[in-house]
Amino acid sequence: MSFVSQIQLPFLFLFLICLLDFSAPSNVPGQSPADRKCALCNQLLEEVTECLKNGMSDREVSFLIGQKCETLNILNFKVCNGTASIMMPTIRYMYTNSLVIQGNICGIYLQADNCSLSDPNNINWKIASSSIDKPVVTQFIPPSLGSPTMKVLHIADLHWDPEYLAGSNAACADFLCCRADSGDVVNATDAAGYWGDYRKCDLPWHTIEKAIAHMAEKHSDSAYIIWTGDLVPHNVWSTSKEDNIYIMERLMNLIQRYFPSTPLYATLGNHESHPTDTFAPPDITDEAINTAWLYDVAARQWARWLPDEVSSTIRYGGYYTTLIYPGLRVVSLNTNYCYTGNLWTLSKFQDPASSLVWLNNVLQNAEKAGEKVHIVSHIPPGNNDCWSTFSREFSKIINRFESTVAAQFYGHTHKDEFKIFYDLVNASRPTNVAFMGPSLTTFTDLNPGYRVYTIDGRRPGSTWAVLDFTTWAINLTAANLLGSSEDPVWFELYHAKKEYDLADLSPDSMHKFFQRMLVDDVLFQKYFKNYYRGADKKMAQGCDDDCRIGLLCFIVTTDIGDRSRCAQIAKQMFTHEEL
Ligand SMILES: *[C@@H]1O[C@H](CO)[C@@H](O)[C@H](O)[C@H]1NC(C)=O
Ligand SMILES: *[C@@H]1O[C@H](CO)[C@@H](O)[C@H](O)[C@H]1NC(C)=O
Ligand SMILES: *[C@@H]1O[C@H](CO)[C@@H](O)[C@H](O)[C@H]1NC(C)=O
Ligand SMILES: *[C@@H]1O[C@H](CO)[C@@H](O)[C@H](O)[C@H]1NC(C)=O
Ligand SMILES: *[C@@H]1O[C@H](CO)[C@@H](O)[C@H](O)[C@H]1NC(C)=O
Repeated sequence: MSFVSQIQLPFLFLFLICLLDFSAPSNVPGQSPADRKCALCNQLLEEVTECLKNGMSDREVSFLIGQKCETLNILNFKVCNGTASIMMPTIRYMYTNSLVIQGNICGIYLQADNCSLSDPNNINWKIASSSIDKPVVTQFIPPSLGSPTMKVLHIADLHWDPEYLAGSNAACADFLCCRADSGDVVNATDAAGYWGDYRKCDLPWHTIEKAIAHMAEKHSDSAYIIWTGDLVPHNVWSTSKEDNIYIMERLMNLIQRYFPSTPLYATLGNHESHPTDTFAPPDITDEAINTAWLYDVAARQWARWLPDEVSSTIRYGGYYTTLIYPGLRVVSLNTNYCYTGNLWTLSKFQDPASSLVWLNNVLQNAEKAGEKVHIVSHIPPGNNDCWSTFSREFSKIINRFESTVAAQFYGHTHKDEFKIFYDLVNASRPTNVAFMGPSLTTFTDLNPGYRVYTIDGRRPGSTWAVLDFTTWAINLTAANLLGSSEDPVWFELYHAKKEYDLADLSPDSMHKFFQRMLVDDVLFQKYFKNYYRGADKKMAQGCDDDCRIGLLCFIVTTDIGDRSRCAQIAKQMFTHEEL
C-alpha cells in the first residue's frame, strides 16, 4: 500500500530498498512484497557487517555498497558510493562501540512493512508522563466576529540547489538532477526548465528570490514567519558541512533582507545535517561524527530572532522555546530524532537529547502559566519515517496537553496536508491538528507552494487557534513556458474554509472534513488537487483507490505502530459505514 511509496527520500542503502519494485510475484510461496523487502534488507545488512568484521576499509565498504546499488538497479554507483562514503565513519563508530542491535535495524527502517525486531524491548522506551492530572477539556469556542486575528507565514522545504542549471539534464540517473554535472541532454524534452523542473530537481536561486520577494510584497503584515526546515538540496552523495552552512546562511540573509522586522521561528530539517539525516545525541562528543557543529550554527543564525537564553537548548539538542506574546509560546522541536533515516535512531539512545522529556516539562509549565503553545518542527510524528516509539510517546504528550497545544506545524512531506490526533481514551474524539505546509521545492512532481495562516490574535483569552489558511502556488508549467522573460505568477490556490466548506479548523471540524472525504468524491478530488498544488502530471495520473487510502490514512495516523484507522478507511469508503 502507499505507505511505502510515500517514502521519497531514501538515503542509506538499506533505505534504498524502498525504491525497489517488489510487486512481481515471488518464487517463494506465501512471501509477500513486504516479506521480500525485509529479507533483502537483512541480507544486505549481513553483508555489510561481514565486511566490517573482516576489517575492510570505509572506502572498500562504500565501493561494495555502490556496486550493490547498481546490480540491484536501485540507484547509480556514484550516488550510493558517495552517500555510503559520507556515512561510513558514523556506521563504523556505531559498529565498533556496539551501539546498535543488528536484528533491529531493518525493523526500524522498514517499520511500515512489519519487518521484525530481534530485540523490541531495547528500542521500545517510554518517558514518564505528567504527574499532574489533565484539566477538563472545554469545547472550542471560535472568537467573535471582529476579534483581532494575526497572519502567520509558513515556508516549508525550500531546498535551494546552488548548482541548478537551466537547460541541463533533468532526466539523469542520480538522486538529484538539473545540475551542470547531470550528464548530456539527449532529448530536448530532458532539458531543465528555467524556473524549476517537476523531475528530480530542486530550485534555482532566482525562483527562490522571486518567491520571497512576492511574499514580502503580499505578506509584510505577517506577525511572524514559521520556517520548518530543509533548506539544503537533495544531493545526499556530495554534501559537506561548509556547503550546508553556506546555503543556510544565504537563505537566512535573504529572508531577513525582505522581512527586516518580522520575527522568524525556525527548526532544522533532516537535510541540514552532514551526513544527511544524521543527528547524533549530545552524548556523542567525538567531533568527527557529532552534530554540535550544526546546533552551533543554528543557534548563531537564529539568534537574530530569538532571546539569548534559548541558545543553550539549541546547542544541546537543536530545540528551543520562547514566549512570543503574553499567552503564546512557540516550541521548536527537533523531530530529526525520530527519523528512521537518522542512523542514531537505530542506536541504544532513548529519547535522544531528552527532547520529549523537555517538551513535556515545557508544556507542563505552559499549562500552569495559562499559556497556549504552537509546536513547530520538521518531521511530523506518525509519518511512516518517524520511529513509532517516538510517535507514540509524542502522541501521549499531545493527548495530555491537548488544551495547551493550540496548533502544530510541520514540513518534510512536501505535500499540502494535515493530521488529526485522537483521544487515547475515547478514540472517536479528535483532540489536536497538525498542519503540514506545502514545499517551495518542486521535488518531485509538485508546484511550488507556501501557506499563510489566520490565527486567533492578541486579546484576553485568545485561543491562538488556526482559524483559516490559504495556500499560494505557482503553475510551474506555465512559468517555464514564458521562461526568463516573465516572473512566475503566484496565485491563491485555495482558502481552506471556503474550499472545503468548514465551520472552522478545530479538531472537530477537521475530523468531520476527513469523514466527508471518505464518501464525497468531489470533495476528495479537491483535496487531492491541492495536495500536489495542481501539478500537471499528478492531475493527469489521478488518484486510484490505493492512492486515496494512502492520503486519507496519513491524516488519521499519528503513530505508525497503530494503523487501525487505516484498516477501517477502506471499509468505510466502500460501504459508507459510520466509523
Ligand atoms: C566513492 O566516493 C568517494 C567519496 O565521494 C570518492 O572519494 C571515491 O573516489 C569514490 N569511489 C569511486 C570508485 O568512484
Ligand atoms: C502488517 O501487519 C498488520 C497486522 O498484522 C497488517 O494489517 C498489515 O497489512 C501488515 N502490513 C504489511 C505491509 O504487510
Ligand atoms: C524524446 O522525448 C519525447 C517526449 O518524452 C519522446 O516522445 C521521444 O520518443 C524522445 N526521443 C528520443 C530520441 O528519445
Ligand atoms: C467520545 O467522543 C465522542 C466525540 O466527541 C462523543 O460524542 C462521545 O460521547 C464520547 N464518548 C464517551 C464515552 O465519552
Ligand atoms: C498550468 O499551466 C498549463 C500551461 O499553461 C496548463 O495547461 C495547465 O492546465 C495549468 N494547470 C493548472 C492546474 O491550472
